[in-house]
Amino acid sequence: MNKPTIYITRSIPAKLLKPYQEHFTFICWEKEETPVPREVLIKDAKHADGLICMLTEEIDDAFLDNVQRLQVIANLAVGYDNIDIHASKARNIIITNTPDVLTETTADLGFGLLMATARRLLEANDFIKQGKWQHWAPYLLAGTDVYNKTIGIVGMGRIGKAIARRAKGFSMNILYHNRSRDEIAEEKLGVTYLGLNELLSEADFVVSVVPLTDETRNMFDADAFSMMKHSAIFINISRGGVVDETALIQALKEEQIAAAGLDVFSKEPLPKNHPLLQMRNVVALPHIGSASVETRTNMWNLCLENVTRVLSGKRPRTPVE
Ligand code: NAP
Ligand code: GLV
Ligand code: GLV
Repeated sequence: MNKPTIYITRSIPAKLLKPYQEHFTFICWEKEETPVPREVLIKDAKHADGLICMLTEEIDDAFLDNVQRLQVIANLAVGYDNIDIHASKARNIIITNTPDVLTETTADLGFGLLMATARRLLEANDFIKQGKWQHWAPYLLAGTDVYNKTIGIVGMGRIGKAIARRAKGFSMNILYHNRSRDEIAEEKLGVTYLGLNELLSEADFVVSVVPLTDETRNMFDADAFSMMKHSAIFINISRGGVVDETALIQALKEEQIAAAGLDVFSKEPLPKNHPLLQMRNVVALPHIGSASVETRTNMWNLCLENVTRVLSGKRPRTPVE
């Protein structure tokens, strides 16, 4: 009997494939940093039964038309805005993502980014490495406090709650906004529900952890920034598409808000000369929210489990429903 074929769009540690090689054939794009070109993917995945892909691959109607054997696509990410779910369902292709395994790691990064932006850690690091440190001074690289402040979490889901748990340790007042109230979170974490506009006007730190959908695209626009305090710090660890970046640049330039910490951008990778990278009060990271070695391994393993389960006639662990 022919073994089912699984195409993987990025290089994966060989030892992770070992447990599956007896029953499945793997074809991998062997590069670690460069995504597979779309035409190569279409050609090489043509006869695959399963696909493990990254958020760098756009899985749309045109792609799906070319890979007609596919039964399952496992995205190595919890966010799946790179996949046309409707088009996949119409072809009975099962989609899976990687919830839970990356929650705490991404919350660590989100809170770290908030701390780094508030306390100007990267500017301070550049300052000392560039040999600029001549004297100690009372207001040298003075930032703003985090403890006791108000944090507004937009998207109180898995990662939002993990950020709230960290914020509690800093004695922060925690506000959140979702489409629906989460009374369990309110009780367990002591968080307060507010409408988006109220949250924006009360928070010292606004943290975006909402998925990118038709509803959330550009939700942080000029109006949203105009409601924030002049001292507010905006943190985005969800997707760049939730922000109108032109409005963000304007808000930072005009000191409508104080600073931004950004792990994600509307077009990635961000070009070297992008205006956001020229601003002193922006901390920018190259989309590394879940990038710890342990978590990336857990994400790979979850994708492998999901794909091989579907191809063995079982229910995947984490389907997108
Ligand atoms: P989740 O558990 O599904 O949480 C998402 C939250 O957003 C839910 O509480 C949901 O509540 C809320 N939400 C959805 N649509 C909304 C809307 N239109 N308005 C207001 N709130 C809305 O997801 P998660 O696991 O926490 O992940 C969240 C996102 O983080 C992912 O989708 C991904 O884009 C991003 N992410 C980024 C990185 C990174 O590397 N930077 C890593 C992991 C995840 P309601 O349904 O009640 O609205
Ligand atoms: C990363 O951005 C993810 O959605 O997992
Ligand atoms: C600072 O280093 C202090 O001792 O207050």
